[in-house]
Amino acid sequence: MTQKTAIVTGAARGIGLATTRQFLARGHRVAMIDRDAAALAEAAEGLDGVLPVVCDVSDPDAVAAMTAEAAGAFGRIDALVNNAGVADFGPIEATDFARWREVMATNLDGVFLCSQAAIPHLRETRGAIVNIASISGLRASTLRVAYGTSKAAVIHLTMQQAAELGEYGIRANCVAPGPVRTKLAMAVHSPQIIAAYHDAIPLNRYGSEDEIASVITFLCSEAASYVTGQTIASDGGFQATGVGLPALRG
Ligand SMILES: NC(=O)c1ccc[n+]([C@@H]2O[C@H](COP(=O)([O-])OP(=O)(O)OC[C@H]3O[C@@H](n4cnc5c(N)ncnc54)[C@H](O)[C@@H]3O)[C@@H](O)[C@H]2O)c1
Repeated sequence: MTQKTAIVTGAARGIGLATTRQFLARGHRVAMIDRDAAALAEAAEGLDGVLPVVCDVSDPDAVAAMTAEAAGAFGRIDALVNNAGVADFGPIEATDFARWREVMATNLDGVFLCSQAAIPHLRETRGAIVNIASISGLRASTLRVAYGTSKAAVIHLTMQQAAELGEYGIRANCVAPGPVRTKLAMAVHSPQIIAAYHDAIPLNRYGSEDEIASVITFLCSEAASYVTGQTIASDGGFQATGVGLPALRG
């Protein structure tokens, strides 16, 4: 039981699948967690050293069972990546309570539940938690009343975790990705939004899944052993530029 292990939620595609592959390349075994059973089975096929577990991270009983299964199969948990997320963009007046709860259930409750369930195991390994927020949690914008608020809460939850779990040697950090062309983003990014992001981002492009995953796996690694309570935006410079008025570019 010397081989390191990670739990990655939302691992069936996108950033979670890229993170899974990078952990495997670093010699970890990975519990791949997703609620989309078909996509998870397809993603896990052909990957050596993975344990696919179908689980909805917003369901406390399912999370308890998933964590017990991963810990039982691997004997240890070194890292937890809370990546599962949903995006639902809409105006405040059109966001009814059910839409609000749907976003909060996965994006915020899921992070709380998975982290809490993993703490006993992470205490044993002096492990790491990485939560996935968003630039939408760092800066407010239209249509993101639920999504942006859930991600801002994840950033603060990360600091709460760092403050309280540091004495166990558990580090908690957060990655705030900029736009990446995943299924989640493409469902809510219109051609106009895509063009505007290209214009507003200093690197003038979307990020890739791997560019986000490499920050996640770095924060889980020994190379980040004195880093906790931080949020790193992997966003091509979006956060650094503020309003970034095109007329001021000269
Ligand atoms: N793609 C972007 O532009 C972008 C930008 C900022 C932040 N993010 C964040 O990155 C994370 C990953 O997003 P992605 O773009 O790879 O999305 P994606 O839709 O490609 O993948 C998300 C995965 O999470 C799973 N999932 C959703 N709800 C779940 C639940 N309740 N329980 C278990 N699994 C669940 C989905 O089935 C899916 O496989 C999310 O938290 C998202 O908010 C993405």
